Amino acid sequence: MSSKAKFSYNSSEVELEMGVGTMDEKYVDFSQFRSQTNGVISLDPGYKNTGSCESEITFLDGEKGILMYRGYPIEQLAEKSNFVEVMYLLLKGELPTADQLAAFNDDIKEYDMVSEDVTKILSAFPSSAHPMGVLSTLTSALTAFNPKAVNAKSPEDMHRAAVTLIGKFAVLASWTLRKMKGLPLNYPDSKLDFVENFYQMMFKRPNRDFEMDPIVINALDKLLILHADHEQNCSTSTVRLVGSAHTGLFASISAGVSALWGPLHGGANQAVVEMLDKIKEDGGDVQKWVNKAKDRNDEFRLMGFGHRVYKNFDPRAKIIKTAADQVLDKLGVHDESLEIAKKLERAALEDDYFVERKLYPNVDFYSGLIYRAFGIPTEMFTVMFAVGRLPGWISQWIEMRQNNEPIGRPRQIYTGHPKRDFVDISDR
Ligand code: ACO
Repeated sequence: MSSKAKFSYNSSEVELEMGVGTMDEKYVDFSQFRSQTNGVISLDPGYKNTGSCESEITFLDGEKGILMYRGYPIEQLAEKSNFVEVMYLLLKGELPTADQLAAFNDDIKEYDMVSEDVTKILSAFPSSAHPMGVLSTLTSALTAFNPKAVNAKSPEDMHRAAVTLIGKFAVLASWTLRKMKGLPLNYPDSKLDFVENFYQMMFKRPNRDFEMDPIVINALDKLLILHADHEQNCSTSTVRLVGSAHTGLFASISAGVSALWGPLHGGANQAVVEMLDKIKEDGGDVQKWVNKAKDRNDEFRLMGFGHRVYKNFDPRAKIIKTAADQVLDKLGVHDESLEIAKKLERAALEDDYFVERKLYPNVDFYSGLIYRAFGIPTEMFTVMFAVGRLPGWISQWIEMRQNNEPIGRPRQIYTGHPKRDFVDISDR
């Protein structure tokens, strides 16, 4: 498509190139705007309207509630695929053959040992440390233990860096739980699948046989798939931005972990369960909490509701809601908070405030309740999200480097003092 957009300014007209993406998303190319207008910039806090890159990895349409990884709808992947296969798809662009999948699994296992010295860093944390802070630090520390620079243009180097990080990240994530609980660390078991291995490292006790419930493993696998990528969200944009300075992969991912931690982003899954518990303790009057969320003078927001992009429904939330019902039922877990969540959802969806603002439950609204049914502590929920999101972050980092994207460096509009002269301290 080669149409142009026109912008009138100071009685002169600037022509801007327009383009279109695979799914008919139209855009105006602002890259030459400043030079064509003699210094005018576009101002868009929070990037509500700004595309930061072109990407072939994930498509989402917030109005229609569509999410696809590499063209495959999330509903099909959640039903028919598995997390390792989805990781391969995100990284390589195509679904693997059986041989490719087996080799990918082997490669992850080949590199999943973490230097024993990393445990010394872990031991320095208090057990009260939030697991996301610990995970971010340990991920960054991997750089020190794997100092050989990788060539981002070499597919072999990038493959090795990706499988190294995938294998080790699951170990580190499980160790954050062990640290919090004061339990001895577990090590990877190459006989197990990726998700089983991760689960075992989190929960196996040295003095007991360990059995895994296939219901739990299947549901966990599905949750990881649903979290695996979500185009240019806050943490992914962080990973791309940090990496755009040619910072290494592990350090960039560590920054992504920190971004994900925030309660407006991945940290919402912890915040949702804490909110539901509070509502329960308060007597379960959901309308009272819906009213609080609507009150401009009250800082409270309905956690797990609303999304920057989804203005219809979050397709992941739909799948997770059904999964929450099924999993809790199969496990025989009765969680009063699930009933409160459903009542809260109904009350909000019938309320004009939420309807007008197109606020729907997001991916985090029900996921925490499933994690809790698995016995995963609340503070660990965002770590679970991070393990799921890792292949997305890595794929996006690789794409950014392979596309030779320039260093990310937004501009600003300065609103501080105009020039003024320095005043000596004795005269202030
Ligand atoms: N509860 C109450 N009101 C809300 C909520 C909410 N959860 N979310 C948005 N609103 C209101 C805002 O107050 C605003 O109202 P106004 O127009 O009267 O000022 C309007 O809806 C638009 O909200 P914004 O904050 O401008 O929307 P934005 O796109 O910037 O924020 C966000 C999106 C951060 C997700 C927001 O909806 C929110 O804080 N939700 C709760 C936290 C959460 O669940 N985060 C997880 C998101 S999914 C993920 O990152 C994995």
